[in-house]
Amino acid sequence: MKIFLATGNKHKIEEIKKIFSREDIEILSIKDGIEIPEVIEDGKTFEENSKKKALEISKFTNMITIADDSGICVEALGGAPGVYSARYSGENATDESNNKKLIENLKGIENRNAKFVCVITLAKPTGETYSFTGEISGEIIDEPRGKFGFGYDPYFYVKEYGKTTAEMEDFKNKISHRARALAKLKENLDNILK
Ligand code: IMP
Repeated sequence: MKIFLATGNKHKIEEIKKIFSREDIEILSIKDGIEIPEVIEDGKTFEENSKKKALEISKFTNMITIADDSGICVEALGGAPGVYSARYSGENATDESNNKKLIENLKGIENRNAKFVCVITLAKPTGETYSFTGEISGEIIDEPRGKFGFGYDPYFYVKEYGKTTAEMEDFKNKISHRARALAKLKENLDNILK
């Protein structure tokens, strides 16, 4: 069976492919030369955005499609940047500019609690959707550590492991918000595909 992965983020494609490997399923993505339209992420929640992406792309490709929406929620900032994580520092945001803004906004603030959140949705071309949420808690540190991952990883410190998610290489794929959401989808997959 073929399942299409609706994300343009190459890091996410790699992470999700590694986590989701199953012999009877072939995961396709834009890396296989399939072009997809851009979906406007105008939802107020991760779930709304994830559902919208999965549904629109599933209708477009006519394949069962998995999409995710994810981001970082910082307690002292009232849950920001949340669904705006990718464009926290504006239209032309980069990981560097986003991280810079985050650290500036946390200057002098003691509470560094944060969580990565991911909602994975599987959509069928017939319109049914199935969404699953995963989270991982951590703290924002002021100096970057580690070279793996992407986005806010170098600043996201997980106390339990004494490392940022950018210092974890493949281990991140076992414990991350995305891994946890995908694990739930995997558990339910046979029922969903019945
Ligand atoms: P989107 O899900 O493509 O809308 O983007 C989510 C944004 O949240 C990314 O561009 C990153 O800035 C951030 N983000 C999501 N997941 C991770 C992660 O695993 N590590 C670091 N940053 C992440």
